[in-house]
Amino acid sequence: KIIVLDFGSQYNQLITRRIREFGIYSELLSHKITAAEIKAMAPKGIVFSGGPNSVYDENAFKVDPEIFKLGIPILGICYGMQLMAQALPGGKVESADNREYGHADIEVLDDNAVMFKDLPKKQYVWMSHGDLVTQVPDGFTHTATSENCPIAAMSNDDLKFYGLQFHTEVQNTEYGNQILRHFAFDVCGAESNWTMADFIDLQIEKIRQQVGDRKVLLGLSGGVDSSVVGVLLNKAIGQQLTCIFVDHGLLRKNEAQEVMDSLEGKFGLNIIKVDAQERFLSKLTGVSDPEKKRKIIGNEFIQVFNDEAIKLKGEIDFLAQGTLYTDVIESGTDTAQTIKSHHNVGGLPEDMHFELIEPLRTLFKDEARELGEKLGMPEALVWRQPFPGPGLGIRVIGEITKDKLEIVRDSDFILRDEIRKAGLMRDIWQYFTVLPGFRSVGVMGDGRTYDYTIAIRAVTSIDGMTADFARIPWDILQKISVRIVNEVDHVNRVVYDCTSKPPSTIEWE
Ligand code: XMP
Repeated sequence: KIIVLDFGSQYNQLITRRIREFGIYSELLSHKITAAEIKAMAPKGIVFSGGPNSVYDENAFKVDPEIFKLGIPILGICYGMQLMAQALPGGKVESADNREYGHADIEVLDDNAVMFKDLPKKQYVWMSHGDLVTQVPDGFTHTATSENCPIAAMSNDDLKFYGLQFHTEVQNTEYGNQILRHFAFDVCGAESNWTMADFIDLQIEKIRQQVGDRKVLLGLSGGVDSSVVGVLLNKAIGQQLTCIFVDHGLLRKNEAQEVMDSLEGKFGLNIIKVDAQERFLSKLTGVSDPEKKRKIIGNEFIQVFNDEAIKLKGEIDFLAQGTLYTDVIESGTDTAQTIKSHHNVGGLPEDMHFELIEPLRTLFKDEARELGEKLGMPEALVWRQPFPGPGLGIRVIGEITKDKLEIVRDSDFILRDEIRKAGLMRDIWQYFTVLPGFRSVGVMGDGRTYDYTIAIRAVTSIDGMTADFARIPWDILQKISVRIVNEVDHVNRVVYDCTSKPPSTIEWE
């Protein structure tokens, strides 16, 4: 395996992910790790990630200097390169006149440089730094340059230490992957033999060790992440896992049943299903402000979960969560653990102390999906599109009523059915219907109608932060529209939302 030491860059987990894609196990570890601990792990290589500090800052992250004596190859990226230059004799790091952020062209200076083997001399890279190395340490060669960063890469083949000022792990670096491959295979001599199945075995072993004969609680939402955690934990500890699945009545058509059929029926998870539809609906009566609706749904969810959890008091020692790496980044890495636990289960009683189990916290969404597939989970569950916590509650605009929920649920079902038939499920990131709540005039048969409009929202996106409206072919939209008007009572008009995010959001509330 190759380990990556975390110095705080937003991209650090991407490095481990790229290496895992090469078929080499990789994990991100704290920069506080000692040389002795690393030696015990016997990695084939070490990567120092980038980071926001300057190596000269008083509180700058340091590394155990003994690491340089282990005889293990090291690649320093950005801050990692500067750290290496500062730590080794002869190296010098200075503040750059101008912060460099974004695209840069570099030129490879050394034809024999192993990191740039078989790659063009000129290539573009992604830079993001305020400091730079102005003098390479003793015994190092200066292997690439750019206009604003004279020492863009450095190497010492005897020690097998390499430094790159740019970020190899992002897509905007033309040959980033090849450069990283050179380090992993040519320098470290790692072998490509790791698969997601190994990850499963490793996690199962870890979970068994951590849990022993104690008990774990998991809140199932029906979403990909918590379902994958459920199946994984079930495989590791079986009936020592108890799941709570709250049906708030804001799920999509047949969804609650599908979750139960699959997770309880097929995988044998121990699930307490709470039917809380009436409880949620009564709390929401008369409320039309979107933020208030969200708060009510969120709080009620916690209440229901807590009510059930309290019944298990004294029996449960651990709380499992489907936290992904992206959630960890959003909460900031060092404090992520505490922030997330409050965020996800907010406000469990003080005397109920849980340890957290988060087996997906090193994975990205698509890796979690791959894991789910490897665990034998059905495609419909693994490739389920993102679904917001407040569910259909924020797709009925304004006050929620049972009838309106039914209209959204039925129209959404038709939309999903047609998208599936058209084979567009994986091309469109998210697709759903919205009931804006106003009525307009139509004509059906010989009569005038005065009924609701349904809006279709379908977007492409990478992470939900930005999105573009999906270009669904007209004939498919037509089919959807005809079916919705014919099959869903009280709808006489269908419109398509053709705004991107920004300026709109994906959801309407
Ligand atoms: P917006 O509407 O903000 O949505 O563009 C971005 C993505 O986040 C989802 N979303 C939520 N997910 N709880 C969630 O778990 C929420 O309260 C929530 N609100 C929005 C939305 O479906 C989209 O994928």
